[in-house]
Amino acid sequence: MKIATIVGARPQFIKSLPVSNEIRKIAKEVLIHTGQHYDYNMSEVFFKEMGISEPDYNLGVGSGSQAIQTAEILFRLESVLVNERPDVVIIYGDTNSTLAGALAASKLHILIVHVEAGLRSFDKRMPEEINRIVADHVSDILFCPTQTAVDNLKNEGIAKGVELVGDVMYDAALHFGKLAKEKSSILEELDLEPKGYMLATIHRAANTDNLENLKTLLAAFAESGKAIVFPIHPRTRKVIEDNGLNSIISGSSIKMVDAVGYLDFLRLEQSASKILTDSGGVQKEAFFFAVPCITLRDTTEWVETVEYGWNTLVNIDKDLLLRQIVEFSPIGEPPRLFGDGRAALHIAERLTSI
Ligand code: UD1
Ligand code: UDP
Repeated sequence: MKIATIVGARPQFIKSLPVSNEIRKIAKEVLIHTGQHYDYNMSEVFFKEMGISEPDYNLGVGSGSQAIQTAEILFRLESVLVNERPDVVIIYGDTNSTLAGALAASKLHILIVHVEAGLRSFDKRMPEEINRIVADHVSDILFCPTQTAVDNLKNEGIAKGVELVGDVMYDAALHFGKLAKEKSSILEELDLEPKGYMLATIHRAANTDNLENLKTLLAAFAESGKAIVFPIHPRTRKVIEDNGLNSIISGSSIKMVDAVGYLDFLRLEQSASKILTDSGGVQKEAFFFAVPCITLRDTTEWVETVEYGWNTLVNIDKDLLLRQIVEFSPIGEPPRLFGDGRAALHIAERLTSI
C-alpha cells in the first residue's frame, strides 16, 4: 500500500509524526509538504528536532490570500498525486493544506483519510471551519479525537467510516513532553522560574486581521503587570510591526520572543502558571499538562476542556481578561479525555484492513 501524507503548517508536522512512524511499518509513505509554512522556526525546526523524515516533495506554495494559497496547493498537488498514484491520502486538521489535499484527492478518486475529523466551532467566519466541513464531507475514513467530534459528524449525516481513536497530539505530547523536560533549556535561556510566568500565543485571523482586537489583547497583557512570555507567530509579528503596536507593550513585563521549537514550547507550557491563547493545539496541551488556559476566542472546538473547568473562553473583553488572568484557577486534575496515547497505532491498525 502507498500512502501520501499531506502536511504544510506547524501543527501538522507535530500531528503527523506519530502516525507516520506507525504507517511506515505497514506501507510506503510519500510525505508531501505544501510549503504553507516555510520559516525555519515554523517548519524545519520540527523536522530536525522531532526526527521527521525529509519530505519527498515540498510544493513551496508560501503565503497568500485564502483563495490563492488554496488554489496554488491544489494546482501543485494534483500532478504529484497523478504521478505517485497513492492508494490513500492522509490529511490533518483544518488548514488550507488540508482543504486543498481533500479536494485534489477526491477529484482523483483516491481514498481520503482525515485525522482530527469532526471538530467544529460552529463559526463559519473562521477559514478553518470551512476547511474542516469540506474535508470531512469528502473523506472516506474519519479518525476522531473525541466523542464530541463523532457526534458532530453524526449531526451532519456522516457515520460511515467514522472511528474514535483518540488524539494524535496527545500521543506526541506524551512522548515529546518527557524529552522537553530532559532537553530543553528555554527556562534558563529566558531567565524564567517554573510557575513564575504566563505563556501567550496569538495567531488567529480574528485576532490579527482585526487591529482593534489585537490592540485590546496586547493592552490587557501589558496592564496585567504579569510576566508573560509571548512566542510570536510571524503573522502576528508582522501586524504588530507594520502598525507600530510595539509601543503598547514596551516597558511592560511581556517577553516577546520568536516562535520556538516544539520541545522548548512544551517546556514553556509545562512550567507556565497560566496559558493565554487562541490556538487549538495549545488549548489541548494546556489540558494535558494541567495548566489553566484562557482562550482568546468566543468559541472552541475543544469543548471538553471548558466543560471540565480547565479552559475558559474570554473574547475580546479587556476587563474580563484582566479579571481571569488573576482569578481563573481550576481545581483538581483534568481527566484523561483524549485517548490512551496510542491514537497513531489505532489509526495504522485500521488502515491495514483497507
Ligand atoms: C495557518 C492555518 C491555521 C493554523 C495555523 C498554525 C489556514 C487558513 N490557517 O494559519 O488554521 O492554526 O496555520 O500555525 O490554513 N508567515 C510567515 N512565515 C511562515 C508562515 C507564515 O511569515 O513560515 C506569515 C505570512 O505573513 C503569512 C501569515 O503568516 O501571510 C499567515 O500564514 P498562513 O499559513 O496563511 O496562516 P496562519 O495564520 O499561519
Ligand atoms: N508550538 C510550537 N512553538 C510555538 C508555538 C506553538 O512548537 O512557538 C506548537 C504547540 O506546542 C502546538 C502547535 O505548535 O503543538 C500549535 O500550533 P498553532 O498554535 O500554530 O496552530 P493550531 O493548533 O491553532 O492550529
